[in-house]
Amino acid sequence: MSDSSFYVTTPIYYVNDAPHIGHGYTTVMGDVLTRWHRQRGEDVWYLTGTDEHGQKVLRKAQQNGVAPQDWVDRLVETEWKPLLELLDVANDDFIRTTEARHEAGAQAFWQDLHERGAVYKGGFSGWYSVSGEEFVGDDDVRDGEGDDEGQKVSALDGSRVEYVTEENYFFPLSKYQDQLLALYEERPDFIQPESARNEIVAFVKRGLKDLSISRSTFDWGIQVPWDHEHVMYVWIEALLNYVTAAGYGVDQEKFDRLWPASIHLVGKDIARFHAVIWPAMLMAAGQPVPHRVFAHGWLLVGGQKMSKSKANGIRPDELVSVFGSDAYRYYFSRALTFGSDGSISYEDMHARYHAELANGFGNLASRVAAMVGKYFDGALPAAGESTDAEQRIIDVVAKAVADADAAIEAVAPQDAVAAVWRIVEELNGYITEQAPWAVAKADPDDPRLATILVTATEGLRALAVLLNPVMPKAALALWGSLGAEPTLGALADQRIDGVASWGQLPVGATITKVPSLFPRIETPEAS
Ligand code: ME8
Ligand code: MG
Repeated sequence: MSDSSFYVTTPIYYVNDAPHIGHGYTTVMGDVLTRWHRQRGEDVWYLTGTDEHGQKVLRKAQQNGVAPQDWVDRLVETEWKPLLELLDVANDDFIRTTEARHEAGAQAFWQDLHERGAVYKGGFSGWYSVSGEEFVGDDDVRDGEGDDEGQKVSALDGSRVEYVTEENYFFPLSKYQDQLLALYEERPDFIQPESARNEIVAFVKRGLKDLSISRSTFDWGIQVPWDHEHVMYVWIEALLNYVTAAGYGVDQEKFDRLWPASIHLVGKDIARFHAVIWPAMLMAAGQPVPHRVFAHGWLLVGGQKMSKSKANGIRPDELVSVFGSDAYRYYFSRALTFGSDGSISYEDMHARYHAELANGFGNLASRVAAMVGKYFDGALPAAGESTDAEQRIIDVVAKAVADADAAIEAVAPQDAVAAVWRIVEELNGYITEQAPWAVAKADPDDPRLATILVTATEGLRALAVLLNPVMPKAALALWGSLGAEPTLGALADQRIDGVASWGQLPVGATITKVPSLFPRIETPEAS
């Protein structure tokens, strides 16, 4: 096992359509986590990408009268890669399953399974949901109603199912039941949160069926290396992205450094694929399993799960164009509990934007910078003697750093942001109480004035570093306004474990007015 790298993945998303904020959610949470870990000084590798094969994508391309390769090329370039820029995501790699490196790695993995005798050929007949790209057991098939009248649908997600009879390759998943249960037992945090773990354990205890893993009725997929009549079942191919992107079969040194992944971030819709099928495949291939699978909940809009098929998907740019990428990242980090379902609304985002970002944080940053400008010509003075009030700020910052770091460790970004926000609240309270303007008015030479403003400025320094993983643009603007870079170096190089050490900004640092970090949005648009 490699202890040296922190390798994080998102699901690779189907390119049947453009991204919505559900995809943005997983990707941004991964970015917040990985940016924080980078600032811990860890060797981070953050992977995201696109899932391009299979019938769902193929049919969508056909409906649009486009060859599947052209369809995915277009969507990846115009929609999926731009999403990362839009949301300010600092991924280290982006894998497409139509890339040669993935095809080669996936075939190498299959060949290895074949040589180990870990797959077998057999007849398959059963129900398949193209929209879910999954087999549906007979017990979970119902008669369709309404638009689906005369059709069969899956009880799991309401999608239509089709009856398939094929000669297929199979993976003997049933053989792995005991090994999987032993894994969940020995490593209680393999699948998180607890609710997802319980569900997976119960599912595996009910018994596992062998899995059909190839298809022979269409060819939009990767060929089974020893039998070109078959393409790999899209899920069995897609899961492999996590190892093919890490250099499996091609770059052993890279693979040893990255694998096993530290954490696979997924939505709970696909927890079973990641916590049951995927570790079983790795066991069959003699590869170590990932350290953790973290399954987050649904974004609910108007009480309903948002999804492409329900056409209630909100596009990320609809929100970013109004609030900006920082506020978007902040909102999804702060307002939801990662691991639970959560409702989001335009109104809530609008309210938090003004209360927390514009009035809470933005206003604090501009007030402090403006006062250093007014009273000290923008040059950070030397602090005088500290009192209990200053010590309290120092203590609050130290505690916030420790709490936020523990929250990130526990994959609870909402708690990390809440911990950091105590600094914002404490500093706002401190300034109101200490009233530097009143001190200046009474005696402009009173050393308290410098002490108060230096303390507040140091608090802002801590905030810039701690909020960088969540709001990189605002944090960078703040870092610039604090004149920190010439002495302290680049913001991204600031370590979490150094944040709480006090008095880092030098006397004479040039403090400039912060451009308004979160300007008011006067006219709320309807969502
Ligand atoms: O399942 N709330 O791709 P996909 C929160 N290609 N997250 C949501 C969401 C919602 N309402 N809707 C989608 C696939 N997501 C496969 C994955 S991985 C080897 C292959 C997010 O395009 C969430 O991360 O259907 C969910 O798991 C993922 O998008 C599904 O994306
Ligand atoms: Mg899906």
